[in-house]
Amino acid sequence: MSERDAAVDRDRTRRPVNGRTGNPEPEPQDLVVVANRLPVDLVTPADGGPPEWRRSPGGLVTALEPVLRSSGGAWVGWPGSAGVELEPFVEDCLTLHPVRLDEDDVAEYYEGFSNDTLWPLYHDALVTPTFDRAWWRTYRRINERFAHAAARAAANGATVWVHDYQLQLVPRLLRELRPDLTIGFFLHIPFPPSELFLQLPWRRSIVEGLLGADLVGFHLPDGAKNFRQLARVLLDLPTTGDGRRGSGRIDLGDRSVRVGAYPISIDSAQLRDRSRHDDTLRRAARIRAELGDPETILLGVDRLDYTKGINLRIEALRELFADGRLDPEKVVMVQLATPSRERLEAYAELRNDVEREIGRINGEFGELGRPVVHYLHRPVDRDELVAMYTGADVMLVTPLRDGMNLVAKEYVACHGDGSGALVLSEFAGAAAELRRALLVNPHDLEDVERAIVEAVRRDDPSLTRRMRSMHTQVMTHDVERWARSFLADLRDAGADVLQQEA
Ligand code: ADP
Ligand code: G6P
Repeated sequence: MSERDAAVDRDRTRRPVNGRTGNPEPEPQDLVVVANRLPVDLVTPADGGPPEWRRSPGGLVTALEPVLRSSGGAWVGWPGSAGVELEPFVEDCLTLHPVRLDEDDVAEYYEGFSNDTLWPLYHDALVTPTFDRAWWRTYRRINERFAHAAARAAANGATVWVHDYQLQLVPRLLRELRPDLTIGFFLHIPFPPSELFLQLPWRRSIVEGLLGADLVGFHLPDGAKNFRQLARVLLDLPTTGDGRRGSGRIDLGDRSVRVGAYPISIDSAQLRDRSRHDDTLRRAARIRAELGDPETILLGVDRLDYTKGINLRIEALRELFADGRLDPEKVVMVQLATPSRERLEAYAELRNDVEREIGRINGEFGELGRPVVHYLHRPVDRDELVAMYTGADVMLVTPLRDGMNLVAKEYVACHGDGSGALVLSEFAGAAAELRRALLVNPHDLEDVERAIVEAVRRDDPSLTRRMRSMHTQVMTHDVERWARSFLADLRDAGADVLQQEA
């Protein structure tokens, strides 16, 4: 961890919980990010100690935090605990505007409509989405609350960048409150094909909500194409576009909305540099020793989410041990799983399933004091994570559907020397850029097993070339480039509107 990061971390844990820093009314900002979560969560430790600020989970925060910390601006979001009312406060050049969510809001807006309706619907309906009118009403009400908070945080003529599926109504609501703003929206998860989206009883309102933005961005061209198609089908709006890149426009008559694909990324240089640090290399070597010096370490790093395909990689490993294609004395897997959305039934069931499968494989193939799968059900700190990435011989990223998957890019950033191998699902957005990974269809267990065996054998010199070429891709397409390209297009889109008005 750099000294600056360490200082930020210390500062977070020391911050008084009322969040005040002696600056009662922070200045409105020219750049405002609006996301369901703030980059930090207010957590009350299980031992009953005082509440602390901790880094929020998930890829959205991983990607956006370095961008916003370097540009400065405001971030509007929920501090992660129900019923917490905090004043805006300034932290490390960022003005944080906490949005209060009460217990019922959390149950109906966050757990309900966002994560039990939209999340499964947008991820291929892997779990059946629940359609509940009361949740929808709460979703609308909370989107209004976020829109008002964003309107307060934004300076005259500011750029406001709204993020993700929890806040799809905010662009339109915000435009009604503040027509002076330039508004961008970026979706961090897949945008579904119209056959799925059209199931949603509130489909028109969602599309209209998004069309309040000047620019709507997706990870992949398919998402952008699906969205333009829905604007035509549902709202009868004329659209133009470039089929290959997905970019185009939707014509609203008095203005047009740009649509495009912007694959998100990571702070690649920071991860590469950390992975080369002596402390990291020492820690990676110690981890290998602690695991019993296996020939091969396989690694999985995920939020504990049913989209991530955690069980299928464990099942593949079990079959490989069972039929003797891999030797449990030589191969060890580490699975890190951040707890996520734990009160939702699908997530509680998933946890049971994953833990049962890990128990089963260890029961069958482990030895006393030597499990074949080591499992941590908690977030680990960044330095430890980088040491694990650096030391792991094979990274297993096998989601059934994933908007991007930053874990895949993080692993590649830590292997600039060409070491390691990445087994990557074709259904992760990252597969569009990391074409030289060992790509697998996660629905085809034999395909996953074949790729794991190929990665573990490491007897193919092309694996080094593959990793080097992916590393170059990740280094040259980092999150700063992603943000610059989105914001440049957003500025152009805002300028179009000004020209039309003149
Ligand atoms: P998602 O956004 O769906 O959680 P991503 O792979 O895009 O998936 O992003 C996950 C982020 O969370 C990555 O930055 C990853 O490093 C981090 N992460 C995931 N699991 C853990 C863990 N157990 N400990 C620490 N960080 C984690
Ligand atoms: C994904 C979503 C984010 C979300 C994150 C963590 O990355 O795209 O919007 O913040 O998962 O999920 P959580 O429900 O804990 O915020």
